[in-house]
Amino acid sequence: MKKKSREYAFFCQSCGHVETKWCGKCPSCFTWNSMVEEKFTQNQTKLDIVDHKPQSITTIEHLNKTRISTHLEELDKVLGGGLVLGSVTLIGGEPGAGKSTLLQMCSANLAKAGKRVLYISAEESAQQIRLSAERLDGLYENLFLLCQTDLDLALAQAQDFKPDFLVIDSVQTVSCSSLESAAGSVAQIREVTAKAVHFAKDFGIPTFLVGHVTKDGNIAGPRLLEHMVDTVLYFEQSRNDHYRMLRAHKNRFGSTNEIGLFEMSSKGLISIKNPSAFFLAERPKDKPGSAVFCTIEGTRPLLVEIQALATESLFGNPRRTCVGIDTNRVCIIAAILEKHARINLSRMDLFVSVVGGIDIDDPALDLALALAIASSVKNISLPFNLVALGELGLSGEIRSVFRINERLKEAYRLGFDSAVIPKSADLTLDSAMKTKALSNIQEAIKLFMV
Ligand code: TYD
Ligand code: MG
Repeated sequence: MKKKSREYAFFCQSCGHVETKWCGKCPSCFTWNSMVEEKFTQNQTKLDIVDHKPQSITTIEHLNKTRISTHLEELDKVLGGGLVLGSVTLIGGEPGAGKSTLLQMCSANLAKAGKRVLYISAEESAQQIRLSAERLDGLYENLFLLCQTDLDLALAQAQDFKPDFLVIDSVQTVSCSSLESAAGSVAQIREVTAKAVHFAKDFGIPTFLVGHVTKDGNIAGPRLLEHMVDTVLYFEQSRNDHYRMLRAHKNRFGSTNEIGLFEMSSKGLISIKNPSAFFLAERPKDKPGSAVFCTIEGTRPLLVEIQALATESLFGNPRRTCVGIDTNRVCIIAAILEKHARINLSRMDLFVSVVGGIDIDDPALDLALALAIASSVKNISLPFNLVALGELGLSGEIRSVFRINERLKEAYRLGFDSAVIPKSADLTLDSAMKTKALSNIQEAIKLFMV
């Protein structure tokens, strides 16, 4: 008779590490209290071994030929140009981020284009999905729903159905009956993903898996999960819920630099096609304390407004309160202004905010931030059509910024016709933008604050 210890093992719920005895802290990833006893099964899915012959790289077919558009521009862009046959994409995000909404819209678009779509949901009932599909304008004959929590049964149905596109919502709620552990455990997630990957590769079906995230924002389950799939996307909500950002974390079929921006409306997700205009909407005219700069999000230049408010401090210890930007950065810029531009901030409370709920850690922000603070202190507004780009060094010098030409081009496109830039910038601009190259913060202050 087999001993119990051979059949059961302790699996770390965070990294999938296996131990024969229970321990309080996982020896592999050092997470506390993550070891859970699960049945140890040998018959887990393994990919078939196919005897391939070596092939010259020049004879291999180009992938772009087989890309399928989802008719959601932002999603296509993040995927690297559309869906690839047989690819498996894992999309993670907080509850309510809009993962199901995005995939329902994508499914509806494909069904509308005549593809057979199978949406396997273990989270919502068919009625619930129909209700949201009505709102999304997504009622198409070719969109089929299957509400099933058993993956083996669902995949058996899918095999008969032969869809052109498959969605499994979500890997944490479907389970395989061959394993004893509950849905959502490490062993189940691993098995579910392996089976889904196997299925997608065998039949060449582009497949989307929905993944839940843990408190710290990673996809719940073992890290292995992200290795098993071709593409990992994260769907993030902004702080103030104004927009949602789709970002590729890993992509075997494209770059991970692209981002997609969406807004949630009563009729589903709407692509934000002109994000700079979106972030600059409602910018006050001729008000001190506001400056605009251009950051790079992924591969995309994005204009953002920075606002600063300096008020006299009532206490000995002035406050520095920042939203969307690191407080230490603001303290450094305040010190630079104090020392090199003779702007006295030691009795001033400073409030700084990046408008639109975006978080910025791009050093090119420094010059715009310094100008916004100086503008509020001196109560002099900056020119409305000015964009400021430059990193500040501790001795007050303005340092160069990467991809400055792209940033200036985006600013010009949105009607900004003048810019202050670092002296060392290497410009290849052919537009009518007036640029002023400066070497230190004193020059910038002299230019605008007298
Ligand atoms: P959902 O896509 O179900 O999120 P997830 O699957 O990531 O958990 O829903 C996202 C939120 O968006 C939900 O709280 C309801 C809301 N929503 C809208 O505002 N408009 C819509 O058209 C839909 C379908 C959902
Ligand atoms: Mg959902």
